[in-house]
Amino acid sequence: MVSGYLSLVIGHGSRVTGHWSLMSDSRPIYLDCHATTPVDDRVVAAMLPYFTDRFGNPASINHIYGWEGEAAVKQARETLATAIGATPEEIVLTSGATEANNLAIKGVAEAYFSKGRHVITLETEHNAVLDPCRYLESLGFEVTFLAVGSDGLLDLHKLESAMRSDTILVSVMAANNEIGVLQPIAEIGAMCRDRGILFHTDAAQAIGKIPLDVGAMSIDLMSLTAHKLYGPKGIGALYVRRRHPRVKLAPQLHGGGHERGMRSGTLATPQIVGFAKAIELGVGEMAAEGKRLCELRQRLWDALSTLDGIHLNGHPTQRLPGNLNVSVEGVDGQALLLGLQPVVAVSSGSACTSAKIEPSHVLAAIGRDPDLAYASIRFGIGRFNTAEEIDRVAEHTQSTIQALRRATRRRG
Ligand SMILES: Cc1ncc(COP(=O)(O)O)c(C=O)c1O
Repeated sequence: MVSGYLSLVIGHGSRVTGHWSLMSDSRPIYLDCHATTPVDDRVVAAMLPYFTDRFGNPASINHIYGWEGEAAVKQARETLATAIGATPEEIVLTSGATEANNLAIKGVAEAYFSKGRHVITLETEHNAVLDPCRYLESLGFEVTFLAVGSDGLLDLHKLESAMRSDTILVSVMAANNEIGVLQPIAEIGAMCRDRGILFHTDAAQAIGKIPLDVGAMSIDLMSLTAHKLYGPKGIGALYVRRRHPRVKLAPQLHGGGHERGMRSGTLATPQIVGFAKAIELGVGEMAAEGKRLCELRQRLWDALSTLDGIHLNGHPTQRLPGNLNVSVEGVDGQALLLGLQPVVAVSSGSACTSAKIEPSHVLAAIGRDPDLAYASIRFGIGRFNTAEEIDRVAEHTQSTIQALRRATRRRG
């Protein structure tokens, strides 16, 4: 067992001390499924043969080892394509959604810069979209970062007014990784299609949680990842439309010409097989699991909202089934997290950037003031969580908040 005491200086110079331990039977309940998820046993089972017996390089065309790898990748590509209404040739395998976003945004900018140099995105996107956009700005492109409403939703009139004749790309995420808000993807897709603007969506959090169809939603490029859906880390894909319109993309990784020249690098067969299995399971179980997660989320919210001064972040219903994000009045954010740590693993409403703790840019964008943003908790409920766990977390969160408020009142 590894354990110890963590001590932290919080606002007003007070010190908060919490016990932590890494012993397997006392590990906290995992409610951080937007960060990553455990790999499902069924996914592991599908992957295993491709580490050992069937280890061949799918690009080896002269022997059975290569053919086995190639067949597995072909099958996986078909599964992935079917899940989103695409064709297998439209799937470009990548190392995850960060790479897919970079390929989509930089790849389109480089291929279409003679047509226009304007890109539209949201203030609440993941940094894997924001940073490539900022990079484009450094190259002379103009990027409009649209504000969202206090519920986290994009106002389509704002999008319409931002669209220009030189706009080449709109990038809007399907589901937000902090507040779970689901953007109106089909409506955005239709607006882009009408104006001949390419539409990219980062669906890292959405795939397998909400229905996604690249045809019905007029999506031209879509980023996916496996590890948010009980698949392995280090594998993802970019969907790239091949017809009506055929999207051109400048590759960002050059080499052996894999993935039709759009992404060179030896294909990671075990991860690709696991990715496809994870998507197949996620999409197949989506309806029942979505309902179960909504019920668990409601159970948690019903318990927490009995306290005063608890604010829900993001739209009340138009959000991912497993997402609950709350801001808590009258407590210090760091103390709150420290108090929760022994019982529940969650994320806070702040992020460490260059060793400085900053309030989340998403909570800032929906208008939360910094103090409330610091004192925020993102609960990400997932496939392996139970109602009993939710009850334990609710009870512990309530008592932690009450204890911290009492301590603040005593000091005040
Ligand atoms: C919305 C969103 N986009 C992109 C990413 C990055 O995905 P990956 O870890 O596969 O690079 C994440 C993961 O944190 C995410 O939540």
